[in-house]
Amino acid sequence: MTDPGLERLSDQISQIRSDQVDLPLELDDLHPDPFEQFATWLNEALEAHKGWPNAMTLATADAHGQPSSRIVLLKGIDRRGLSFFTNLGSRKANDLSVNPHASLTFYWPLQGRQVCIRGPVLRVPDAEADDYFETRPRSSQLGAWASKQSSPLASREELEQVVAELDARYPDEVPRPPHWGGFLLEPEAFEFWKSRAGRLHDRFLYQRQTEDWTITRLNP
Ligand SMILES: Cc1cc2nc3c(=O)[nH]c(=O)nc-3n(C[C@H](O)[C@H](O)[C@H](O)COP(=O)(O)O)c2cc1C
Repeated sequence: MTDPGLERLSDQISQIRSDQVDLPLELDDLHPDPFEQFATWLNEALEAHKGWPNAMTLATADAHGQPSSRIVLLKGIDRRGLSFFTNLGSRKANDLSVNPHASLTFYWPLQGRQVCIRGPVLRVPDAEADDYFETRPRSSQLGAWASKQSSPLASREELEQVVAELDARYPDEVPRPPHWGGFLLEPEAFEFWKSRAGRLHDRFLYQRQTEDWTITRLNP
């Protein structure tokens, strides 16, 4: 079945030829520790002050192997791994409860860089979720209580009504809802990708060994 609108759009996107940032990434440029390498790239993305440099695509899969992905914000990184916060009744949280493995993808177009990270996922301890929840703006705290994330919602008014009720229920501090918390992905592999001319991109895969990490160049 043809659809002229979609055909035009397909033509348009198939002809996009953006100039790639063509600075090489060599093995010698890489820090032996992928956490250090990731920190360097994230810092450079943060310095550019554009958009959400801490936005990452989180891919999960359910018990049948059905994948789904969405953007979440990286809210913490330490030697254990990378953390984000969400609704514990959401689709992603349900996926992670049956299949506690995920991948994260960062894309920083200004630098022509992508990082993909994968590994097992654990819940962030409640005390850490409390600490982070306390720092959120009140509107986000009320939003976390109000939203039954990923469930059908009859109308926007219904959601706003719930927020108004919660605002009255918690005139002072808003406690962390029991259905809101964090997850921590423990990296087993990092892949650093750098755009190059002619689609001859540079890719390096770090894989965790017992003590340290191996680094392998991959075909683009
Ligand atoms: C820039 C951006 C940042 C987001 N950050 C988060 C986040 O940190 N946590 C979250 O639960 N959802 C976040 N979302 C919304 C998710 O993409 C998604 O719609 C929501 O979490 C429901 O996903 P799910 O139904 O697959 O569980 C963000 C969306 C965008 C576009």
